[in-house]
Amino acid sequence: MNKYCLSTNGRFFTEVGTDSLTLPPHFTVTFMYTIKFTFEQKGLDPITLENVAPDQSILEVALENNIELHHNCGMVCACSTCHIYLQKGEEFVPELSDREEDFIDRAKNPKLNSRLGCQCVLINGSGELEVCVPDQSLIHGE
Ligand code: FES
Repeated sequence: MNKYCLSTNGRFFTEVGTDSLTLPPHFTVTFMYTIKFTFEQKGLDPITLENVAPDQSILEVALENNIELHHNCGMVCACSTCHIYLQKGEEFVPELSDREEDFIDRAKNPKLNSRLGCQCVLINGSGELEVCVPDQSLIHGE
């Protein structure tokens, strides 16, 4: 079952939990994600965010929810400080580009599921993602 909300003029209106619905013409449907953040840094509990709208990056979602994730280059894929491990939900973000891969290679402890948070823009859809945030105390910068 897809989870989505209805909105008029881009404002959140209500959450609905069904796939079939007839909408008046002035309503739009936005599919929503659930993202669970876990942290390598000791002492930080996991955070689960629900009703996350698509068309924003995992980095933007993190910052908007006061989750520390560095972003030294200003989100233009020119550093590796927004490095994350995408544990689940890679089908909901664009494929890894060569440029992103180059910068991931410069990150601390890259793994097969490494991504850059600023390059993982949620596509239009709905589902669940799981993101592990590397220890931010080991990263210098913004
Ligand atoms: S903020 Fe620099 S690559 Fe993401």
